[in-house]
Amino acid sequence: MSNPMLPAGPARIEINEVGPRDGLQIEAALVPTDAKVALVDALSACGFARIEVTSFTSPKAIPALADAQDVMRRIARRPGVIYTALVPNVRGLERALEVGVDELNLVMSCSETHNRANLRMTREQSFAELANILGVAARHRLPANVSLSTAFGCPFDGDVPAEDVLDLARRLVEAGAAGITLCDTTGMAFPTQVASLSAAAQQRFPGTPITIHLHNTRGMALANAIAAWQTGITRFDAAAGGLGGCPFAPGASGNVATEELVHMFDCMGVATGVTLAPLLEVVRGLPALVQRAFSNPLLAAGPRLATHAPPAWLAERFPPA
Ligand code: COA
Ligand code: ZN
Repeated sequence: MSNPMLPAGPARIEINEVGPRDGLQIEAALVPTDAKVALVDALSACGFARIEVTSFTSPKAIPALADAQDVMRRIARRPGVIYTALVPNVRGLERALEVGVDELNLVMSCSETHNRANLRMTREQSFAELANILGVAARHRLPANVSLSTAFGCPFDGDVPAEDVLDLARRLVEAGAAGITLCDTTGMAFPTQVASLSAAAQQRFPGTPITIHLHNTRGMALANAIAAWQTGITRFDAAAGGLGGCPFAPGASGNVATEELVHMFDCMGVATGVTLAPLLEVVRGLPALVQRAFSNPLLAAGPRLATHAPPAWLAERFPPA
């Protein structure tokens, strides 16, 4: 459906479901390994291009994902789905290599203070660590994407200059990054900013897939997704149920909800590969999984065309002719 008022983006997008990683890393409840495996297996049936299964981080930093190796070993790998995991350092790479992942997702921040708070390293230390990992990954022919946290603003340092983000991305692409994810860690991004950075990144790194990772902290995630899509972005991170957040970023809250992203693009006739019905079933089970209630407007209302039977009295008031 073309609309002259809304410049169209690509006809097809890909979604990387990050709920099992970004979603569970911040939850207070410790989700049992069996339940994590069942979650990933249920998500595997929904049609995602990628699933970020877990993270090979320090169990002291992220106790919720201390069972990363068990989860990775036990999931049923569905052909066609790329199973990825977050890795912050060489130790994490070693653990990932032991159990096998299809793709690595390395991480560092664009801002100095968040990098220190999240990864306990300076940006330059993180860069050296990631460059090292990229070298090893290349020898294993293992694609390694790099997620750049705080690309749209930092909860400690405030605005992050777009040039700093693009320069860091350039150095990582030169070091062998297979893709770059621009992360709005604490929902500071706004649509015109997203459009401008998305366009600049695609222009500077034409051979490198750019993914946009949004959080809905301030209610702008779907608007930001549209803005990115209009510049040609085809890859989005999202978390089922809108779970998610970085434990080392004050005020962080949920990712853009996968079901809302899928539903919105479905309405617009943009293919996501994801089937909404089984995804909504996964979302329905999330409060029990993380042991807390949360409101989910799409689950409550149903998809847009889930219409209702008219009130019974209408038939009396307006009898058939
Ligand atoms: N996996 C498992 N254990 C790890 C590890 C990894 N990837 N990296 C370090 N460790 C262990 C070390 O073996 C060491 O163990 P010990 O105390 O028993 O000797 C301990 O953790 C400290 O190691 P060190 O290298 O000093 O790490 P650190 O304390 O400086 O922490 C990180 C650095 C990167 C490992 C840690 O900050 C981290 O995991 N951060 C992840 C943050 C994150 O995922 N945020 C949300 C996503 S953006
Ligand atoms: Zn995130």
